[in-house]
Amino acid sequence: MIKVKKRKILLLPGDGIGQEVVAEVKKIIQWFNSKKSLDFDIDEDLVGGAAYDKHKNPITDEVFYKALESEAVILGAVGGPKYDNLEFSKRPERALLKLRKELKLFANLRPAICFKQLVDASSLKPEIVSGLDIMIVRELTGGIYFGEPRGIKLIENGERRGTNTHSYTTNEIIRVARVAFELAKKRGKKVTSCEKSNVMEAGVLWREEVQSLKDKEFKDIELNHMLADNCAMQLLRNPKQFDVIVTDNLFGDILSDEASMLTGSLGLLPSASLGAKDKNGNIRSMYEPVHGSAPDIAGKGIANPIASILSFAMALRYSLNLDKEADILEKAVQEVLDEGLRTKDIISKGMKEVSTSQMGDAIISKLK
Ligand code: IPM
Ligand code: MG
Repeated sequence: MIKVKKRKILLLPGDGIGQEVVAEVKKIIQWFNSKKSLDFDIDEDLVGGAAYDKHKNPITDEVFYKALESEAVILGAVGGPKYDNLEFSKRPERALLKLRKELKLFANLRPAICFKQLVDASSLKPEIVSGLDIMIVRELTGGIYFGEPRGIKLIENGERRGTNTHSYTTNEIIRVARVAFELAKKRGKKVTSCEKSNVMEAGVLWREEVQSLKDKEFKDIELNHMLADNCAMQLLRNPKQFDVIVTDNLFGDILSDEASMLTGSLGLLPSASLGAKDKNGNIRSMYEPVHGSAPDIAGKGIANPIASILSFAMALRYSLNLDKEADILEKAVQEVLDEGLRTKDIISKGMKEVSTSQMGDAIISKLK
């Protein structure tokens, strides 16, 4: 077989169940390395609370530079109650935010797909969610997460004031909207843009810029504007009306958690965070499950590794140009679900409960 060039992948398992689920991704990468002509160079390091425990820093410069030099970063999860009282700059979450911001990963793709095998795992009625396939595109490096001024200050009357700033520039809006329109082209050709233009100037600008991009470059895509609160409601009322949703950092955080529950379990949802193409056509990227570190179930071997494994499938597709391998991996996940194997979060009557690593092994057995 012909060997393709070595691709660097950095695994950052992080905290809690992040470590367990990324271990399964590692097995899958190793399988691709051993069985196919692919030759991934795997590196692994500490991030989040795990890095804080060792270095008193949630992400060291060394790890940050490794991320900068990798073709794809696969992150597990960060955070846990143990770190709740740390000052902001030391918290595990800062590592994640630093990676997103400094790698300029402005477009966060969060698909919410309801697998036919798991229609009953959703708390919504089957007819509302079966066949659901939404792509949420969340802006990831701007808005209130990063706006200045920010902070907590003592004010004259002795009270304290907490401040965060929600702001967007035209370019920040246009580049993420373009990602959403491009995705819609290959899907249902429909974009819903969400903001709060009824109360926020940044929302008015968002709406205007998204509309003008559509008018200039994406005439054949249907565009609807929706207030974010209405969108939250519509996601529960009739989620299948959506194809691609594009929204800001904070609304995207909230709406994507909501959408995840339509699919039955947070344990199934992958995500991709993408930057701009460089002059060689490569993009910087990071892939992570939408779920968090889930300290309550960490270390028990019951976490669902599918979100992480599907995140790696997204890496194959979006960063490594390996669509065929991505298809194979996604199909393997489907087959395992077809056979009735379930981790605890998605177990239902008549299905067979398996552990995190058994689920990983079963998926690998389908790759063969
Ligand atoms: C997410 C998470 C993060 C966010 C946290 C862990 C900082 O909720 O990726 O959705 O708020 O963006
Ligand atoms: Mg979130």
